[in-house]
Amino acid sequence: MIKVAIHHRVDSFSSGWIDYCKKNSIDYEIVDPYQSNIVNKLKNFDIFLWHWNHSDSKDLLFARQLILSLENMNITVFPDSKTSWHFDDKVGQKYLLESIDAPLVSSYVFYTKEEALNWCDKTTFPKVFKLRGGAGSHNVKLAKTKYQAIEFINIAFGKGFNNFPSYTSDIKTKIKRIKSFKNIVDKLFRAPKILKSIYTSNKMFGKERGYVYFQDFIPNNRFDIRVIVIGDKAFAIKRVCRENDFRASGSGLIIYDKKEINIECIKTSFLISEKLNFQCMTYDFVFDKNNKPMVVEMSYGFTNEAYFKCDGVWTKDFEWIDEKVDPPKMILEQLIKNFK
Ligand SMILES: Nc1ncnc2c1ncn2[C@@H]1O[C@H](COP(=O)(O)OP(=O)(O)OP(=O)(O)O)[C@@H](O)[C@H]1O
Ligand SMILES: [Mg+2]
Repeated sequence: MIKVAIHHRVDSFSSGWIDYCKKNSIDYEIVDPYQSNIVNKLKNFDIFLWHWNHSDSKDLLFARQLILSLENMNITVFPDSKTSWHFDDKVGQKYLLESIDAPLVSSYVFYTKEEALNWCDKTTFPKVFKLRGGAGSHNVKLAKTKYQAIEFINIAFGKGFNNFPSYTSDIKTKIKRIKSFKNIVDKLFRAPKILKSIYTSNKMFGKERGYVYFQDFIPNNRFDIRVIVIGDKAFAIKRVCRENDFRASGSGLIIYDKKEINIECIKTSFLISEKLNFQCMTYDFVFDKNNKPMVVEMSYGFTNEAYFKCDGVWTKDFEWIDEKVDPPKMILEQLIKNFK
């Protein structure tokens, strides 16, 4: 009988994994990866599930190292190293996607100020400036002109950037996402905790500097398409941009209608996941002037609940099946299927 070890974190995949194990009488145990004896502890398990998080500095210190070590013991890990070494690392993703000639939006990285400035003299603008990590569009900005790009470059090779934005950044979106009076009260109650966590995270992570990353700006996209591939199934959402803004992620404006999804996005996503052997991957697409979907970034992790409203999945033959989308269940089912 398969033995499954799960790290439990509220608001992660783990509640779904625990439910699945209970319903299917799978032998599971909650484990704590932060303990020094974790490798020994996991020696008697077949599968280890850990939805590690890009905004926890502890996870970034050792998740990749632990995963590789467990794989060395032939333990099935989610996420495995192929799926997660480039998590929250857009620079890593650039190299990996280029290695298979995936349709990635042209991306540029520089490790010296001089080279970055030389490139600025020769290239065209606008460009999109990104930190290698971050979510919800927080670390994604438009360099409309060469001079704005130079400002980013000066900071990148000077005082550096915080990984986590101040609480008041993107305030318009935060206000728009308030749906009720209760929402306001909840937010006010949670504000001190969030402020403390932003302060602590920025302190623990240190500054982001010593490199600069840009992408070509793909204009006239009022939305992006996010596709998630788990094993032989894919599902997708359409995310509408904030008003007067090119950025969709984090807007909270989500459309759940399969007719709104360009099937080319599904094809490309399956192709990349298959080539790179990913267990689970999200792909964010924008469309170039020929309406070709271009990847802007990928990620193994995501907020589960945002996809519960999807009303079905595509198979690898691009057939649609009406079914309830439950990502943690899909992940674990896939692992168990491959395990047998
Ligand atoms: N090169 C680009 N050209 C045009 N629009 C872009 C480009 N890159 C990103 N965008 C837009 O900006 C948004 C945020 O970009 P991206 O997905 O890279 O950042 P993120 O903060 O990591 O997002 P997520 O929350 O999806 O992880 C995208 O949803 C897309 O709408
Ligand atoms: Mg994104």
